[in-house]
Amino acid sequence: MIITIERLGHLGDGIAQGENGPIFVAGMLPGEVVEGDLEGDRLVNTKIVTPSAARIKPPCSHARACGGCLMQHASDDMVADWKTASVEGALAGQGLHAPFRPIMTSPPRSRRRATFAARRTKGGSMIGFHARGSDALVQIPNCQLVHPDLMAAMPGLEELVRLGGSRSQEVALMVTRALGGPDVVVTGGKPLDGPLRLELARVVEAHALARLTWDGETVALRATPIQTIGKAKVAPPAGAFLQATEHGERALLETVREALGPQKKIVDLFAGIGTFALPLAEGAEVHAVEGDPAMVAALDKASRNTEGLKPIKAEARDLFRRPLEPDEFKYVTGVVVDPPRAGAEAQMRCLAEAKVPVIAMVSCNPVTFARDAKILVQAGYLLEWIQVVDQFRWSAHVELVGRFVR
Ligand SMILES: C[S@@+](CC[C@H](N)C(=O)[O-])C[C@H]1O[C@@H](n2cnc3c(N)ncnc32)[C@H](O)[C@@H]1O
Repeated sequence: MIITIERLGHLGDGIAQGENGPIFVAGMLPGEVVEGDLEGDRLVNTKIVTPSAARIKPPCSHARACGGCLMQHASDDMVADWKTASVEGALAGQGLHAPFRPIMTSPPRSRRRATFAARRTKGGSMIGFHARGSDALVQIPNCQLVHPDLMAAMPGLEELVRLGGSRSQEVALMVTRALGGPDVVVTGGKPLDGPLRLELARVVEAHALARLTWDGETVALRATPIQTIGKAKVAPPAGAFLQATEHGERALLETVREALGPQKKIVDLFAGIGTFALPLAEGAEVHAVEGDPAMVAALDKASRNTEGLKPIKAEARDLFRRPLEPDEFKYVTGVVVDPPRAGAEAQMRCLAEAKVPVIAMVSCNPVTFARDAKILVQAGYLLEWIQVVDQFRWSAHVELVGRFVR
């Protein structure tokens, strides 16, 4: 059958309207005419009859096979429009509208953290991403997504997998770029015993990895894996949340700074290791609240070791169960809130009663952002503008900041 793609779905599939409902077509763009065989609600064995003007040659040589990136066949403008539209759609679903600032997109080869899949093989090991729509592993020596420093860690990672991986089961390798060298977290490896510990520690030394964490245990710490945040040097616990690119982190911080304007006392909710709290403390007192005690400890230590910051009170607290109460925002002039994908409904209800003059809400999920934004708007806040930040280039993820004022 031949169909015309009408729009892009949330996961990047092209969608056409069939007689019995929507038809999904992987890798297609709006306006494209496609021929293929209908299998359920999907068109397969596809051939493009008329390509979109927004279709480009994928910049990565692995794009066809690798499932790591979804949207390499679309121009940057098309992806920007699609991501912006997904945020507009989520807001409209709650009856909300706001002006959008031009999107800020991270450059290729800038992801500073990646989770690779890996397996021991007969001759050594194999590391990569999963293939599109399957569990098969695809090696990615020319990957255009991750930072070159992560690719440079491959020989060390290969040796780790050769020693401690299995042929029957995959291991996951989360690798983070850090001062001191790559910070590696392995899950699904062989059980640790004395000889394996020694061998792994030898690889850490030989390949100048900073730290190796093996199924929750620190096996080797050659150098502290430091993240620079503003003037501070933070030593995060293994696997701690980190914005995906340095560009994205800077873009979010600049936007939050602009949204808040000059401040005296800020509350940073879901503060992580201090991505916002530490730089904002250059100009204001900050109360930073985060659920993970190890991340709070890292933020607290960094703030005490950094000169020129106003006081940061770092508190470990579960904000889903025990949100900050309205009276805890007394004298607070601005709030940053950056929850996980589930959003911050309980916290928003308390915040809405507190009447803080300005709120910068950061989110990685437009749907929960819109739900939580509505709570603020119903309490009398104006959603003044939205900034979309695309630090997950070529994927379906989107990050945004909204400025709310009373
Ligand atoms: C999207 S991250 C943002 C972190 C930080 N603002 C940053 O930019 O690096 C969300 C943070 O919320 C924390 N978190 C998740 N659930 C939480 C909860 N119930 N209470 C408090 N913090 C929570 C996570 O540990 C994570 O650090």
